[in-house]
Amino acid sequence: MNTKTTVISEAQLQTQFGFCDQISAYWVNQGRTPKAYVETYGCQQNEADSEKLRGYLSQSGYTIVQEAEGADVVVMNTCAIREHAEQRVFGNLGALTHTKRRHPEQKIFLCGCMAGETKVSDRIKKSYPHVDGCFSTHHLWQFPEILWNVLSKKKRQFYIEDEPGSIAEGIPQVRDNVLKAWVSIMYGCNNFCTYCIVPYVRGRERSRKKEDILAECRCLIEGGCKEITLLGQNVNSYGKDLPDGVDFSDLLSEIAALPGDFLIRFMTSHPRDAGKKLFDTMASSPKIAKQLHLPFQSGSSRVLKAMNRHYDREKYLDLVNYAKSVMPELVLTSDVIVGFPGETEEEFEETISLIQQVRYDSLFTFIFSPRTGTPAAKMEDPTPKEEKNRRFDRLCAVQNSISEEIHESYVGKKMRCLVDGTDKEYLTARTEGGRLVRFVGDSACIGTYQYITITGSTTWSLTGALDKEA
Ligand code: SAH
Ligand code: SF4
Ligand code: F3S
Repeated sequence: MNTKTTVISEAQLQTQFGFCDQISAYWVNQGRTPKAYVETYGCQQNEADSEKLRGYLSQSGYTIVQEAEGADVVVMNTCAIREHAEQRVFGNLGALTHTKRRHPEQKIFLCGCMAGETKVSDRIKKSYPHVDGCFSTHHLWQFPEILWNVLSKKKRQFYIEDEPGSIAEGIPQVRDNVLKAWVSIMYGCNNFCTYCIVPYVRGRERSRKKEDILAECRCLIEGGCKEITLLGQNVNSYGKDLPDGVDFSDLLSEIAALPGDFLIRFMTSHPRDAGKKLFDTMASSPKIAKQLHLPFQSGSSRVLKAMNRHYDREKYLDLVNYAKSVMPELVLTSDVIVGFPGETEEEFEETISLIQQVRYDSLFTFIFSPRTGTPAAKMEDPTPKEEKNRRFDRLCAVQNSISEEIHESYVGKKMRCLVDGTDKEYLTARTEGGRLVRFVGDSACIGTYQYITITGSTTWSLTGALDKEA
């Protein structure tokens, strides 16, 4: 397989903009403004990709709408991480036969991580004739061409060839939120954790150039953005494929040095590549949020080895201890998988004890889901489903009581928070660590930093009162 990163050239991108113009002209001829709906599943990387899909659609004359009913284009940007995620997509895709029956001109596309699986594209070809186009993440930059081919040739389009992946700079973006932005700093993954499908559907690790990332961040901050979340499957290996020797910590420092009042967050960190330099950099800058998402997956060193994670329980705990020693206020979150093939009761208890030792602010908990083509899907898995469910429930109960206790300890503290929206009669805000706070206040303060005194807490969120003196 060719592992060299391909950069999509300016000329190739201009060709795509040419297709946008043709699509716009097509709709001018039809005498109306078309509508497009993009539905996003999965992680922030997909959210960021959807902003590009919307960018291309806007440039092609479409108005972005919030529902599939009556839309001229529907794009399902999908996630393949677990079986359940895929079943949901197939269910919703099936339901689109009805929206299309009511609006026969509707064009339906499936893209994202599921579109990179042959078993999915085969099923779309055979059993979902109402889907007009299917393209994997590697072909997102060609969306205008795919859409134009569907409109002009009246033929289904499949852009699903597997590739190591490319980098395309300059695709227009329609962002959901001015205050908070996702910025992808790299794409793909080289880790091949044995349970995970991401490297198969998103290609090899490739880093954007530092200058491109800095320019994007500068532009966001000048436009009023207050929180930038840097995205990558493994941000700690940023730069390994670049010639200039820059690493993730260097990148963080340079972004933090940009003028303006803003916070930087990032995800995801892989414990294999995270280290002291990163934590020291975080500790040294007030613009880098003291928040870390550091997935551990299992508390058992044997299971971690079977997962191909390249660290053990001890190394993980050492990392966390160091991070907490330089950032005592650190908000720590993580991902964990229960019921990996062959996980014993004792190994599961090691996961519980790790959680109790680390005391995460919150956890994303998953039951192992076999993914076709990954090594773990072929491993012997004798543990019954009921037993995995029991372990899962126990894990959630342990974590919930820890989250509740940690949240209780916030009560009485005064915290600087970014006010970011509304929830029914409340305003919502985020602490530097990313915790959600609801409070009563004037919506004019949305978009500003405010001091809020925490007055109450639950397992998942905080309530507070605006500090009038601040
Ligand atoms: N790149 C990130 C994770 C991306 S996927 C990292 O390595 O940390 C998000 C989470 O989904 C993973 O951390 C893992 O906990 C979970 N996950 C991935 N594949 C899974 C599978 N086959 N079954 C259950 N959970 C899975
Ligand atoms: Fe998947 Fe592992 Fe890569 Fe994360 S690091 S995306 S879990 S293969
Ligand atoms: Fe899902 Fe793809 Fe993200 S599989 S979790 S949308 S990288």
